Amino acid sequence: MSVALEYHPFESDVIVVGAGGAGLRAAIEAAASGASVTIICKSLLGKAHTIMAEGGMAAAIGAVDSRDNWQVHFRDTMSGGKYLNNWRMAELHAKEAPAEIESLERWGAVFDRNDQGGVMQRIFGGHTYRRLVQVGDRTGLELIRTLQDKAVASKLTVFMEHTVTKILLRDGRVCGIAGYEREWGRFRVWKAPAVIVASGGIGRIYSVTSNSWEGTADGQAIALEAGAELMDMEFVQFHPTGMVWPQSVRGVLVTEAVRAEGGILTNAQGERFMERYDPKRLELSTRDVVARSIHTEVAEGRGSPHGGAFLSIAHKPAEFIKKKLPSMHDQFMEFAKVDITKEPMEVYPTTHYVMGGIRVDAETAATNVPGLYAAGEASAGLHGANRLGGNSLSDLVVFGRRAGFAAAQYALAQAPAPDPEPAQIISAEKEMLEPFALEDGENPFTVQEDLQKMMMEYVGVFRTEAQLLEARAKLQSLQERASRTRAAGSRLYNAMWHAALDVRNMVRIAGTIIESALLRKESRGAHSRVDYPDTSQELQKVNSVTRRLDGTLTVRYVERPALPAELATVLEAKDAGVPA
Ligand code: FUM
Repeated sequence: MSVALEYHPFESDVIVVGAGGAGLRAAIEAAASGASVTIICKSLLGKAHTIMAEGGMAAAIGAVDSRDNWQVHFRDTMSGGKYLNNWRMAELHAKEAPAEIESLERWGAVFDRNDQGGVMQRIFGGHTYRRLVQVGDRTGLELIRTLQDKAVASKLTVFMEHTVTKILLRDGRVCGIAGYEREWGRFRVWKAPAVIVASGGIGRIYSVTSNSWEGTADGQAIALEAGAELMDMEFVQFHPTGMVWPQSVRGVLVTEAVRAEGGILTNAQGERFMERYDPKRLELSTRDVVARSIHTEVAEGRGSPHGGAFLSIAHKPAEFIKKKLPSMHDQFMEFAKVDITKEPMEVYPTTHYVMGGIRVDAETAATNVPGLYAAGEASAGLHGANRLGGNSLSDLVVFGRRAGFAAAQYALAQAPAPDPEPAQIISAEKEMLEPFALEDGENPFTVQEDLQKMMMEYVGVFRTEAQLLEARAKLQSLQERASRTRAAGSRLYNAMWHAALDVRNMVRIAGTIIESALLRKESRGAHSRVDYPDTSQELQKVNSVTRRLDGTLTVRYVERPALPAELATVLEAKDAGVPA
């Protein structure tokens, strides 16, 4: 396949990669700041993992419980994150989330109401008060619907079904991005002085996940290649409740809203086992704790017939269940022929979210690469070692807005972007076409599957040094195989080619998870080391930071800035409500 030496770059001030909650919010803000904005998304506009944040969006608006305020939200987020959070991000998030709810309502979001006509809020694990604004169990969908409408009205240029493969740099600064059109296979170049990576997570690196096919760590991988730092990659969130069977839907999310509305977890012996693991918070303990508890029950032989735990809400009236959890009702009916108004669900942890990601500045979402920004799940910092449910939707809009604003300011000051160097373009196109040149190469689907199984088995809910070393060794061979994955046929909507390119990113990012997990010799939040079960005071002071230097991955600890006195006072204060 020949490499075209001519290309036609599309130009704008800001490029946003990803059209989930963070990408859309960033694009809206950048456009409102006067920048011309291009959104590039792998799938269709609005088809994003955002919709899998089903049960709600956390914001201390105090509509249901007037004791709530930003200080309590900040405290809960830090406590849930085991104090590894970027405290400034946690502060901004808690303070700014309420204003984002107002913006969303102004733009047309219709949140559930309480009996007095105010906004209804529910509680999720680790939140002291009822704080999650919701639309039944379809909150993420409502967020996307609203932002999509607003974005369309903001006159953006959108490239749907395009995959980005490389961030283009000139003199160390961003000048654009390269990628391809999935449908026709055409190579594309976009020019811009600022790029915001808002491409979501990495869930597809694991075999059991709530993420759909897009979640292959593209944004993290191209940012790393461009010289950006990744932070806290050892912290992968296993949502406690994914579907267990039928096999075809294993990992599909069962929203935390089931437990929030009174769902009870039991084992094969009928025991409400959370009484043993967290007697105070029970099913509404934080996700890391509930996931470990279910995993342990199954590992010790007390699992349900398909290897999970039972989750039942059937003690509530059928009408209540259908009103509060309509999607769960339909999902179980349709996929498993289980009527959740009468029978329990079977659930098991599913890879849902990564707390780690691209390292950013709290105020601006800027990375260490001039012109490169990141927001949402693709970035790191807010959630520390474990994210509280509902904090992701608010994260997307709070930091999406900040990224959009800062990127626009930067781009308008820098514009126009310099032309990308022809040599960079040629090499981007060559790399993209490599799988077609490897006729005897590996089948990319097999390599993906082997990687996913390996990560699930060796870098899962519980980890040990021996397992992680094994994972490192296995990854070496997977990396080698991934670099030789082949594509057959033409460039027209070629799933094999797309998989071959995806898996190269997936193995790179799997490496950052394994290396960071090996480095962190303690248990904290979602990172549970069986060989280091305690939480270390010393390691609370540091975040792991991964970089690629001269083609080699390096992981080191970076000391976290000390908490300012006024926030330390907030952390030490006591709440009147449920203990965190
Ligand atoms: O369980 C859920 O509804 C997921 C929410 C979230 O990840 O924030």
